[in-house]
Amino acid sequence: MVKHDVKDITLAKKGKLRIEWAAQEMPVLKIITERFRKEKPLKGFRLSACLHVTTETANLMETLQAGGAEVTLCASNPLSTQDDVAASLVKNSKIPVFAIKGEDNKTYYRHINDVLSSKPHMTMDDGADIVSTLHKTKKDLLKNIIGGTEETTTGVIRLRAMADKGVLKYPIIAVNDAYTKYLFDNRYGTGQSTIDGIMRATNRLISGSVFVVSGYGWCGKGIAMRAKGMGAKVIVTEANPLRALEATMDGFEVMPVKDASRIGDIFVTATGDVSVISKECFAVMKDGAILCNSGHFNVEIATDDLKKMSKKRRIIRDFVEEYSLKNRRRIYLLGDGRLINLAAAEGHPSSVMDMSFANQALCAEYMAKNFKKLEKKVYSVPDYIDKMIAFLKLKAMGIKIDSLTADQKKYLESWELGT
Ligand code: ADE
Repeated sequence: MVKHDVKDITLAKKGKLRIEWAAQEMPVLKIITERFRKEKPLKGFRLSACLHVTTETANLMETLQAGGAEVTLCASNPLSTQDDVAASLVKNSKIPVFAIKGEDNKTYYRHINDVLSSKPHMTMDDGADIVSTLHKTKKDLLKNIIGGTEETTTGVIRLRAMADKGVLKYPIIAVNDAYTKYLFDNRYGTGQSTIDGIMRATNRLISGSVFVVSGYGWCGKGIAMRAKGMGAKVIVTEANPLRALEATMDGFEVMPVKDASRIGDIFVTATGDVSVISKECFAVMKDGAILCNSGHFNVEIATDDLKKMSKKRRIIRDFVEEYSLKNRRRIYLLGDGRLINLAAAEGHPSSVMDMSFANQALCAEYMAKNFKKLEKKVYSVPDYIDKMIAFLKLKAMGIKIDSLTADQKKYLESWELGT
């Protein structure tokens, strides 16, 4: 058996079946896998991935392996691992996996170090924890690394900050910023999976509730859209005037989070920033308010302050912790303030992860072919990759589109022609 640290290897059989189920909705990744199997574009490269260990990630790992990469995998969040998937990757795919759902912070970082012990040439991150660990505590490994990719908005922000400060030591491709990633994964993926997580954790009716979404980026837009579709009265809170205006014109009520705190039933954060829901908010919330987070890190809800304001805490059902405040009201925190869609549900559906992970696979191939030309910067996904994935996804969905005529192309390229 390859090296690993998973919860229970006997879960492998169940994991294998669920990985197969996800594969049915990942046709673009399948096409890439078949080509990779023949061409082996990643042969000779060791790749360490720090991603949510889900059925979709398992399919990506198998694609990279088919391409010839030697892959190791750890979790990108302590609560997002699907233990049966981790077991199957070890047992059936012979991939070293270090991930256990519910691991503490110490184990989480030990697992990152476990994957780094393979001395990778490439990294694949979701949140930039591998890159930051390498730059902080494993500098000796940086010399082997040709490049990496980053899956999520928060990770891209961290990496751009590193590049701006001149400390980033190898090129990164910002997968998050591809159209075929954020327009679908961040919006429709987060929209559906966040509501799914809230429903699985609470079994509460969304319809008729006052549903507060903090942050109107692509994730917040998706959550607000889906909550509205389920009959909630949706309030958006934002600090960015452009996004606040957009939310207003999309038909949502917009107000400061402290005002929303008095009237909300369910609160979801998706801002990427700290202490968005703070002690001033907890102090005025209604009895029974439900709070959760869909941003990458568990920093958006000031849980330490919530603890200090409470006289009693208990887990009332899976992923639901009841905080009894000194003002006699109760507040319910879901999934410990971690990504609710992955903590209490299964993350985004396979069909959107198909495009996100097609980007990951093709960017790993691009990096393997082009690393000598790249600088220590954060790069966009090449446009041809983005367009190719859209084309393949439409084809897989059986959707045909128009092609421009020669006249239309000429018109678009000209400046002389007007009315
Ligand atoms: N991020 C959000 N949903 C995911 C999923 N299903 N697999 C991997 N990463 C994800």
